[in-house]
Parts: sequence; C-alpha cells; structure tokens
Amino acid sequence: MFNPMYGEFAAEYAAAIRDNSYNAHYERPSLRALLPDLQGKKVIDLGCGPGEYAAYLVSLGATVTAVDASAEMISLVQQKLGNNVHAYQQDLTFGVPDEADRSFDLAVSPLMIHYLEDPTPLFREVKRILKPEGQFVFSTHHPFMDYEFSPSGNYFLTEKIVDEWNTLGRPTRVEYFRRPLSALMKSLFDAGLCMVEMSEGKPDEQMQQSDPESYQRLSTAPGFLFLKCRVM
Ligand SMILES: C[S@@+](CC[C@H](N)C(=O)[O-])C[C@H]1O[C@@H](n2cnc3c(N)ncnc32)[C@H](O)[C@@H]1O
Repeated sequence: MFNPMYGEFAAEYAAAIRDNSYNAHYERPSLRALLPDLQGKKVIDLGCGPGEYAAYLVSLGATVTAVDASAEMISLVQQKLGNNVHAYQQDLTFGVPDEADRSFDLAVSPLMIHYLEDPTPLFREVKRILKPEGQFVFSTHHPFMDYEFSPSGNYFLTEKIVDEWNTLGRPTRVEYFRRPLSALMKSLFDAGLCMVEMSEGKPDEQMQQSDPESYQRLSTAPGFLFLKCRVM
C-alpha cells in the first residue's frame, strides 16, 4: 500500500510529527508508558518512519534495528542516527526474513499495522524473532474511532479506507485498513502472542494548552489503542 506521506513527502512528515498533537503529545507518551527498561536491550522498530522512536530507544541504551517499507524513511533514519542504528528497507507484509529466531528482547510497532490488510503473518514473525521472555508493544487506530469511516457501516468487516489527512498542513491522500477489535485479537492469538497490558491512550498536559480542541476530543473518545504482548 503506497502512501505518499511516507514516500515522497517523508521529510515533511518527519518535521510535522516532531511536535504535533497526535504523535508527539498523544501517541508517543501513551506507548512509551508501556515500554520496559531499555538499557542494554535489543530492540526492533517495525515501521520506524523517520526514526523518532529509534532515537528515543537508542537514547535509553537500547541496540536498535529499524525497519520500514519506505526508502525515504530509512534514509532519514540513517541521516539522523548514522551507525547508532541498523536501518533497512523491508515490506513488513513479508515479515523480517533477515532476522534470526529468538534474537530480540523487544519489538515495537507504533502506528503501522493498520497499513496491513492482515497483520497475522507479521505477528508470527514477531513471535519468531522475540526471545522467550520478549515483549511486543504496538499502537494502532482504535477500532471504535475507525468505525466512523467504515464504507459499509458493518463494524465486523475488515475494510480498506481511503481518506485525506491534514498531518502535513494540507489534505494528503492516505489508505489504511480498519478492522473489528475481535479480528485484531484473533490475529495476535493465532500468531501465538498474548496481551498482557492495554491502554486507550491519554493526551499529555501540554496539549491542553497547545491544542485544546484535540485535547478535549482525545480525553473523551478513543483515538488509538496501545497493546503490550508476550509470547504464549
Ligand atoms: C504513521 S507512520 C509511523 C512511523 C513511526 N512508527 C512513528 O510512530 O513515528 C507509518 C509507517 O509505517 C510504514 N509502513 C507502512 N506500511 C508498511 C509495510 N507494509 N512495511 C513496512 N513499513 C510500512 C510507513 O512507511 C511509515 O513510515
């Protein structure tokens, strides 16, 4: 699935999410709250984008592998972090065939799996590459938020959504998949992963000043879903 925001407009996207409401003041603090101690840990970042997470993980002492389908995003990560991360281009629809079994303490995947029609094969790969005590922490669109955009009005279908987002300050076409909560859970269980912690996110206090409208919305309705999983 090609989204220009992550390809030709990758540099603009990188600048836009550095300090915006949904990523910097809602998604990142909510997902970080689920992360374990990172010192000395081997971490893989699946769908790394421009490397906001990779930089954070490295700053806390992790050894980081960063993977993304977009060559432009990988190039931004390499420019920003150089030899401090191992970054490479890979379509995660096909997993991470270059990674060894049981080799990571932690896999993270912030806001990526809704670009996959079926995340089960990737979840199986996550199980394969995690050490037995490893953890998988990811975020995705909350199924209740996305239901509003269902073309069919049938919550129980998995559907492609074509939309326009204003992340870059102008309407930019984006495609992703919405799915019911049960389908997401089934994919995890089928892959041999079990959920150990879940959050529906919380905007930080700074957003109350910088973007009171989004703060009000995200304080009263779900936006993203945050899951921490382990190998079953
Ligand atoms: C919303 S961005 C999130 C970036 C980063 N995780 C963050 O939170 O800052 C989604 C990222 O997923 C990547 N992506 C989408 N589909 C992918 C796929 N099939 N394989 C690998 N990466 C993919 C995009 O290129 C993009 O960089």
